[in-house]
Amino acid sequence: MIDLEALARHSHRVITTHQAPSGAYPASPSFSAYRGYCWFRDGAFIAEGVSRYGDWSSAGAFHTWCARVLVERSGQVDELITRAARGVVIPSADLLPTRYTLDGELGRDPWWDFQLDGYGTWLWTVDEHLRRHPADPGVDPDDLQKAVVTAVRYLSTFWNRPCFDWWEEHDDQRHVSTLGAIHAGLRAVTANPWLGAGLTLADRAAANAVVEEISAVLTREGGVVDGHLAKWLGTSAVDASLLACVAPFGLVSPDSEVGRATVDEVERQLCVDGGVHRFVADTFYGGGQWPLLTAFLAWNRAVAGDRTAALEGLRWIAAQATPDGELPEQVDHHLLAPGRQQEWVDRWGPVATPLLWSHGMYLILADELGVTGGVR
Ligand code: BGC
Repeated sequence: MIDLEALARHSHRVITTHQAPSGAYPASPSFSAYRGYCWFRDGAFIAEGVSRYGDWSSAGAFHTWCARVLVERSGQVDELITRAARGVVIPSADLLPTRYTLDGELGRDPWWDFQLDGYGTWLWTVDEHLRRHPADPGVDPDDLQKAVVTAVRYLSTFWNRPCFDWWEEHDDQRHVSTLGAIHAGLRAVTANPWLGAGLTLADRAAANAVVEEISAVLTREGGVVDGHLAKWLGTSAVDASLLACVAPFGLVSPDSEVGRATVDEVERQLCVDGGVHRFVADTFYGGGQWPLLTAFLAWNRAVAGDRTAALEGLRWIAAQATPDGELPEQVDHHLLAPGRQQEWVDRWGPVATPLLWSHGMYLILADELGVTGGVR
């Protein structure tokens, strides 16, 4: 019998042990391709888990780190917006990256860097964190309010540009999970007077217009196909990252027909014996099952009132932990492309373990189900 609460406590320990003095959460402390880098996407969900666990100080330190990263780039963002307004075609390499070194620098290793979702997810989770811990969120308020302005202006200008998805793929497409994150982030900060205090009326108007336009684009340009959300505008394929567009992002409501159909279709196509794959054509490390995506499915089931299914998800994730209690990025019980596993082991070594995002998602789901062992 797995001790679900003990794994929550251990997940918190794994995350905080590896959190850098700067506040950044490394994606994985040991994995060759991720070591030394913090992603806005991974970090935002990790911070959500840690904040739910009750550790406002660790989550707050992460948010302060993000704020510093953005404030230091506010001049660059202003310049990008000016160029875009003049109609200049801006190369992706000039835009903000998806990951930074733990000191908030660019780093020298090449990556599929132009991804917009992390900035939206971060805005969404900062709002969640401040609502949860209003008395002492552990953040530098000044930097945070300035950073929100930079993120809102950046997303309001570039939201519609094709970029890499959650998995560093298809940068020629507009991904629904990316649009969902931006939609959630802009909605959250424009509705939070304290967080959005630095926004001008024009910033708010632009952000509100983008929120409306994202919803319109979904129906107008093929974001909903066969009754469910699509992986990118104009395809009928699904991707497990779409689960986030239902809960927590609420791009479509969990009790809407499209919301329900999206969760059902992802489960039908991508969930095998309890574990969730990224997408049917996945070949990364042979295309295994991801604990963090299993957590998104279970989170959605919990939100829809199906506690039994959600608890099954939590147990499945816990069963993937190593004897030391570490959660990997993916497991290989069921591979979609077994012949492609070894090439990744040769290239980057064994699967990233621990992956802090997996632990962060475990904390979110454990909290959703009331089995946290947390400090709150
Ligand atoms: C995944 C990303 C993730 C990164 C760090 C990549 O392999 O595709 O979604 O942000 O690892 O965990």
